[in-house]
Amino acid sequence: MAQSAHDSQALAALLAYYREAGVDWVLEDAPVDRFAAAQEATERAAAAETAMQAPPVEAPAQPVQAAAPPVPAPATRSAPAELGGSAHHGLAEAQALADAANSLDALRSALEGFDGCALKRTARQAVFADGNPDADLMLIGEAPGREEDARGLPFVGRSGQLLDRMLAAIGLDRSAVYIGNVIYWRPPGNRTPTPDERALCEPFIRRQIELAAPKVLMTLGGSALSSLFGIQGIMKTRGQQLTYTHGGLSIPTIPTLHPAALLRNPANKRLAWQDLLAFDALAKEKGAGRYGD
Ligand code: URA
Repeated sequence: MAQSAHDSQALAALLAYYREAGVDWVLEDAPVDRFAAAQEATERAAAAETAMQAPPVEAPAQPVQAAAPPVPAPATRSAPAELGGSAHHGLAEAQALADAANSLDALRSALEGFDGCALKRTARQAVFADGNPDADLMLIGEAPGREEDARGLPFVGRSGQLLDRMLAAIGLDRSAVYIGNVIYWRPPGNRTPTPDERALCEPFIRRQIELAAPKVLMTLGGSALSSLFGIQGIMKTRGQQLTYTHGGLSIPTIPTLHPAALLRNPANKRLAWQDLLAFDALAKEKGAGRYGD
């Protein structure tokens, strides 16, 4: 075969591989100062290490005491000290927008109008939620992938299909759960969201939980666990009942593995099954989901 035909075939195969892997983003709009980024990362790591010495903010496992008011007053958090200057500014705006939203529709509109998170520039659209906003059960994942970005709905790709099968195994479908993510825009190439990106989305997901006021939560994967509980280490935490406390709510939560991680490592499906049974038992105890009225 002539060399140029061989080269173009190899190039086509490489591009096909990139597309398969979700690589659809090569350059940023603005140049990146890698020296400054490295310095910031070092400072952030030092700050995180100091923070690790302090006791965790949300303590595990307390029973739910009181029913939530229909439209809870927003609970505001102060900005993490390690955020960069522009992220600090964005965070104040995100918090103000989230606080001002008194319904899930208003929160969605506020999110769609928010330009403070750079992920918005490379994503097709914000992915807000799927399922039933009145459901007693809420599931929270990490971030939209390629399919979710294209369709504007969470968990509609391969991991979403697995999630549907997991729910069906305990007698549930999307009409019985409300589904969101801790990140609203697809990270380019499905990379892991940065701490700044997570912080900028956090006021919105916390307000979304407040407004939906589910009786039981399940977090999917390490990012959701880390964003909502400040806990690192999904493998050692999964399956244990935690309590999500924020804005007057106190919601029992089961953290489990992310469906995408289960697709990569099917041997862990038996762990996820145990977590699903724990979630189902908690739903039963709280009269939630298919055990509700
Ligand atoms: N993975 C997630 O965490 N969320 C989605 O919406 C899709 C894949």
